[in-house]
Amino acid sequence: MAASWNPDSWRSKPILQVPEYPDATVLRDVEAKLATFPPLVFAGEARELKRSLATIANGHGFLLQGGDCAESFAEHRADNIRDFFRVFLQMAVVLTYAGGSPVTKVGRIAGQFAKPRSSPNEKKGDVELPSYRGDIINGSEFTSEARIPDPQRQIEAYRQSAATLNLIRAFATGGYADLERVHQWNMGFVKDSPQGHRYQVLADRIAETMSFMRACGITSDNTPQLRATTFYTSHEALLLGFEQALTRTDSTSGEWYATSGHMIWIGDRTRQPDHAHVEYCRGIRNPIGLKCGPSIEPDGLLKLLDILSPRNEPGRMTLICRFGHDKVEKHLPKLIRAVEKSGRSVVWSCDPMHGNTISAVSGFKTRPFDRILKEVEAFFDVHRAEGTHAGGIHVEMTGQNVTECTGGAAAISEMELSDRYHTHCDPRLNADQSLELAFLVAERMKLERDARAAPKAVAATA
Ligand code: TRP
Ligand code: MN
Repeated sequence: MAASWNPDSWRSKPILQVPEYPDATVLRDVEAKLATFPPLVFAGEARELKRSLATIANGHGFLLQGGDCAESFAEHRADNIRDFFRVFLQMAVVLTYAGGSPVTKVGRIAGQFAKPRSSPNEKKGDVELPSYRGDIINGSEFTSEARIPDPQRQIEAYRQSAATLNLIRAFATGGYADLERVHQWNMGFVKDSPQGHRYQVLADRIAETMSFMRACGITSDNTPQLRATTFYTSHEALLLGFEQALTRTDSTSGEWYATSGHMIWIGDRTRQPDHAHVEYCRGIRNPIGLKCGPSIEPDGLLKLLDILSPRNEPGRMTLICRFGHDKVEKHLPKLIRAVEKSGRSVVWSCDPMHGNTISAVSGFKTRPFDRILKEVEAFFDVHRAEGTHAGGIHVEMTGQNVTECTGGAAAISEMELSDRYHTHCDPRLNADQSLELAFLVAERMKLERDARAAPKAVAATA
């Protein structure tokens, strides 16, 4: 039998990636204050997301998860949120159209602040300082003051998450996401880019369909499904004191939920089965993501699934695979086979970003876009060969015209990275590259769809 669980039972477990706060009393006061704040999301919504993910785990639909590597306090502006949401909607529409099935939309947003680091310190020349751990913990400027963890930042992160979520909810349900507006999402610098033109063609077809339906009496005024969309939030549950403060019992079911976001995930660096992050996540009922890198073995994965999903409830677990473009074939099939054989229910999602990070000659951290595409293709290929459902993608992206990943239709070179390199952490896809990726995934979804339809066609003629 599993040991008893409490929102604070993680505190007695070994833990990695914790900041060293200089003053424990201030930290406790902040956590106590956060515990009195209203939840950011409602348990019923997390359950609805779980149902939606359950459909994907059962082989239908697709998960689109994306957003900043790390949100930042300095870039908290309405136009940034809008530009992200706009590209995200474009991607969603491309995938919905191609897949002919619903897309579950989950942002890496409204809470994605804390970052695991490969080293606790950062060295520049002769100076060595604690690493930047995300705006919820310390500042990114390379000064000793900025790098001191400050608990008050958690209050600011809560405030920013609330404001971001508020605006996105308004966009999602208040008319901005109306399918009658497909053309208006294609604006700004994307409009005149190659992917923008490609999107234009698709938007024309959707608009034509909409006008046909309007003639039949179905409009976005009388059909809410056309006017609104459902958007969920997610982040890595890394800063457990913050998560604990926002862990609440649901009055309808009496169960514990993380209310800092709809879905939370466990990083590849903090997924030790007997450590704090797994302990925290096992007790809450939200959908959980688990990042799977090259070091995870089938037995280790099954053990984690036992701990995190003892009821094997479909929609509970999403395995976010991030192997690197040339390692998917080596690692993914054995994991799929082990999961299939054991009868466990999971959503398979592909994070093509984190296994493909390199240092450019200029010193910038980058990700070659062709490797990102390659990882996605390999992911789909393996699932096709195994007869399992490639259920989603997880990407780091922005609506801005940044130059952080090389390549893409606009062929950003290593020399051009310095032009608009704005990320606080990892290199993100810009709007154009995000759309290009969506079109590639759309093609692969069509293949999967055709492959499924084929046996039926044979049966029909027999
Ligand atoms: N409600 C549907 C959905 O969310 C259709 C829809 C409305 C939609 N607006 C959208 C789909 C924007 C993608 C993007 O899937
Ligand atoms: Mn990242």
